[in-house]
Amino acid sequence: MVQSRTSSSKTSTFFFFFFFLFSLILSLSSISAASSTDDFVFGGCTQQKYSPESAYESNVNSLLTSLVNSATYSSYNNFTVTGSTQHDVIYGLFQCRGDLAMPDCATCVVRAVSQLGPLCSQACGGALQLQGCYVKYDNATFLGVEDKAVVLKKCGPSEGYDQDGLGRRDAVLGSLVDSGGLYRVGGSGDVQGVAQCVGDLSFAECQDCVSDAIGRLKSDCGQADFGDMFLAKCYVRYSTGGGAHIYPKAHHDKDTDDGEKTFAIIIGLLAGVALLIIFLAFLRKICEGNGNYKYSSSFQTFISM
Ligand SMILES: *[C@@H]1O[C@H](CO)[C@@H](O)[C@H](O)[C@H]1NC(C)=O
Ligand SMILES: *[C@@H]1O[C@H](CO)[C@@H](O)[C@H](O)[C@H]1NC(C)=O
Repeated sequence: MVQSRTSSSKTSTFFFFFFFLFSLILSLSSISAASSTDDFVFGGCTQQKYSPESAYESNVNSLLTSLVNSATYSSYNNFTVTGSTQHDVIYGLFQCRGDLAMPDCATCVVRAVSQLGPLCSQACGGALQLQGCYVKYDNATFLGVEDKAVVLKKCGPSEGYDQDGLGRRDAVLGSLVDSGGLYRVGGSGDVQGVAQCVGDLSFAECQDCVSDAIGRLKSDCGQADFGDMFLAKCYVRYSTGGGAHIYPKAHHDKDTDDGEKTFAIIIGLLAGVALLIIFLAFLRKICEGNGNYKYSSSFQTFISM
């Protein structure tokens, strides 16, 4: 009697989590349909893996949870989670694009973190860039370290600027160096430019990183009508014809109803992420001893975008 009651309550717990997971996925996909801020740009993971159920794993989870929580009130933050041993230290940060309002920043980071999980399953480090935000974690220190490695380069078709257009493009790119701040925009005629540094760079480092990206854009993209240069700690993008390519806006209606709805969704998502972590821990316990799963590698297509 007691036995069967226990097992039925276990089953209902399971169904509750399953339902929650399902609604979480639904709300995530409806957000993604409404807003291109959440579109995938690139992602990558370290080759090294940590062992399941290690202290490192719980540190990864608590780090990612901290990032998500922090994105509700800040557009940049960094965290260091120290474990019981030197080995389990983990560093992480997120950076939202400078023009994103708070609810959009939080939504973007939630989305990035929820994609990082499956993309970098058990990888010691991972990084993901969506249109509106960037998230990275690793066990090697990268906080406060300028890194100008090219992560993603994309040049549009070279349909041609005339001399005049090319001059305007170069002037727009030049204005990105001259304006200060982590987030920089410029425009002239139909040419739009945007630059974003990660918040752990100093002013001088941001300046240096942006200049470097612009130099590469000019040399690598030639007369392309748009160009994206994502370095490890900053990016510069330009486009011709309105700039929708380089800073897609979050879909936003003006009435407050919508703002409240967004806020409610975010609170739901935060709770969802927390529950998801609990759920996964719960699942892992259930699956213990069933051997290793081999999940689909379809996420690999993300990496090559
Ligand atoms: C990160 O973790 C991996 C795997 O546990 C380890 O081999 C590597 O040395 C660690 N790196 C640092 C900087 O601690
Ligand atoms: C990391 O965050 C702490 C506290 O929020 C801050 O004092 C520190 O400057 C940050 N470090 C970097 C490299 O951004």
